[in-house]
Amino acid sequence: MAGPSDAVELIARVPFFEGLDEKSRKAVVREGKEVSFNAGDRVVSEKGSGVGFYLVIDGKVEVRKGQKVLAALGKGEFFGEMSVIDGEPRSADVVATSPTRCWVLPAWNFAGLIKAHPEVAIPMLKELVKRLRAAESPAGS
Ligand code: CMP
Repeated sequence: MAGPSDAVELIARVPFFEGLDEKSRKAVVREGKEVSFNAGDRVVSEKGSGVGFYLVIDGKVEVRKGQKVLAALGKGEFFGEMSVIDGEPRSADVVATSPTRCWVLPAWNFAGLIKAHPEVAIPMLKELVKRLRAAESPAGS
């Protein structure tokens, strides 16, 4: 079994944190917590309130709106940023499709992370643009 410091090491290696130096990575990782889900568990619910930003450590999740699958996300990918950024209800369901471990950062720590380490926002913005383009492309409709 991986102990707490092993978990920090593992999470800190996710590319999301690659703009941060080793010390900052570990400090940031300790602000969140690891949560496990079984296949079929709903991680966030559409229209629910959003209090956390999620990073997939391992496993797979699907972003769903009604019957439609908007995206499949796996290791190193994030979700839950929309409600955390604007305080609006969750835009979609996110469901684990295999046993999945996530690192969850509370909303109030998320703003602090971006202020302290703005370099983290750049790859996140790139990913958001990618998702927007995919959602607007004919294949995404
Ligand atoms: P949030 O609205 O907080 O909760 C649901 C999450 O699903 C949302 O944040 C995004 O992280 C994610 N999401 C919503 N729409 C899409 C999409 N079209 N492609 C990928 N992820 C999405």
